Amino acid sequence: MTSGLIKSLFPLLLYFTINYSSALSTPLNASMHSVNMMHILKWSILKASCSTVNYSVQFQGEYELYNLNGTWVDAYDCQEISENRCDLTHDLASNSDYSIRIKTTCDGQKLWTQLPATFNRRDTVLLVPKMTMNVEGDLIQVDFSTTLSDMTVNLEVWKEGDEQNALIHVIRAYPYHFSIAAHRGKEKMCFKAEALLEAINKSCSIDTQCVIIPKQTSDFMRLVMVSIAVVVAVTVAFILGWLATHLGPQIKQTFCYRETIPNVLLDDWPTRTPILCTDVSLEPTDPLLLLLSAEHQCTTVQLGGYRLKEVECRT
Ligand SMILES: *[C@@H]1O[C@H](CO)[C@@H](O)[C@H](O)[C@H]1NC(C)=O
Ligand SMILES: *[C@@H]1O[C@H](CO)[C@@H](O)[C@H](O)[C@H]1NC(C)=O
Ligand SMILES: *[C@@H]1O[C@H](CO)[C@@H](O)[C@H](O)[C@H]1NC(C)=O
Ligand SMILES: *[C@@H]1O[C@H](CO)[C@@H](O)[C@H](O)[C@H]1NC(C)=O
Repeated sequence: MTSGLIKSLFPLLLYFTINYSSALSTPLNASMHSVNMMHILKWSILKASCSTVNYSVQFQGEYELYNLNGTWVDAYDCQEISENRCDLTHDLASNSDYSIRIKTTCDGQKLWTQLPATFNRRDTVLLVPKMTMNVEGDLIQVDFSTTLSDMTVNLEVWKEGDEQNALIHVIRAYPYHFSIAAHRGKEKMCFKAEALLEAINKSCSIDTQCVIIPKQTSDFMRLVMVSIAVVVAVTVAFILGWLATHLGPQIKQTFCYRETIPNVLLDDWPTRTPILCTDVSLEPTDPLLLLLSAEHQCTTVQLGGYRLKEVECRT
């Protein structure tokens, strides 16, 4: 009886023991994602059933390794966190080779995972800043958009076909902006830039773009265009006015012809309660107000040449 129970429970016990310990002995898959000097550490989540699991990140630069006898520093924002990513941008602040490790705590048990290789912020991937050009008046405005801070832009400017005499402008501070005056419609201005991150001595080049300020429409042409617009507006207004005075009554008849209601409909109108029929004659001073009894109904009659909406009361 007892041995039977043990026999049936043993495989189950073995299954849990193997799975539990193997989950805690398999390191997480950790990797560093560094773009434009933003360093994000990511790792796979622990595949074990823990009632509480959390992660803490530590790092060790060359300074800690050689001068502080190999101590580890806690990543400030990543202690006992539940998410599987950590922003180390502010922690890894020198061009040092950093060792990075993650401590996973699962119901009091600890698992250490170390990043397979050291990370140096010089390995960050630089994205080429976007260079945009806008023409405003006689100025060409050049802007660089990027998430990089502390970037230096070396901008080369030249007239098309004269690159050997390009002038170099250095833009050091955000917003990375430059503007230059140019002759309208005459010369094409070309721009090429290099973005340099001095902190890690890394740079990337921004492709050449050329732009021309369009010729302004002359004052004479502008006057002619305004005159034409005025003549067209006056003509349209005149035609509309003529149409209104000459065709007005016909238009009114076309659109305002009132169909007399067939008596059949009027007779079938089921009225059981008194109806208040109001009407206004063509004389504004002579409103007509009649209170009708239950059987009375309203209809329209002709009065003295005018088409007056009158009330005829029938019993
Ligand atoms: C580890 O993560 C990297 C990047 O996230 C991925 O390319 C790789 O396939 C993963 N390896 C394993 C064993 O999950
Ligand atoms: C450095 O660590 C070693 C062993 O880990 C220890 O014996 C030694 O005293 C430590 N030195 C200092 C300065 O902390
Ligand atoms: C992290 O996990 C440990 C043990 O698993 C627990 O003692 C601790 O309270 C947890 N921390 C947080 C912030 O949940
Ligand atoms: C920066 O890098 C260039 C090559 O890309 C190299 O010639 C130069 O010496 C480096 N400067 C510093 C200060 O490391």
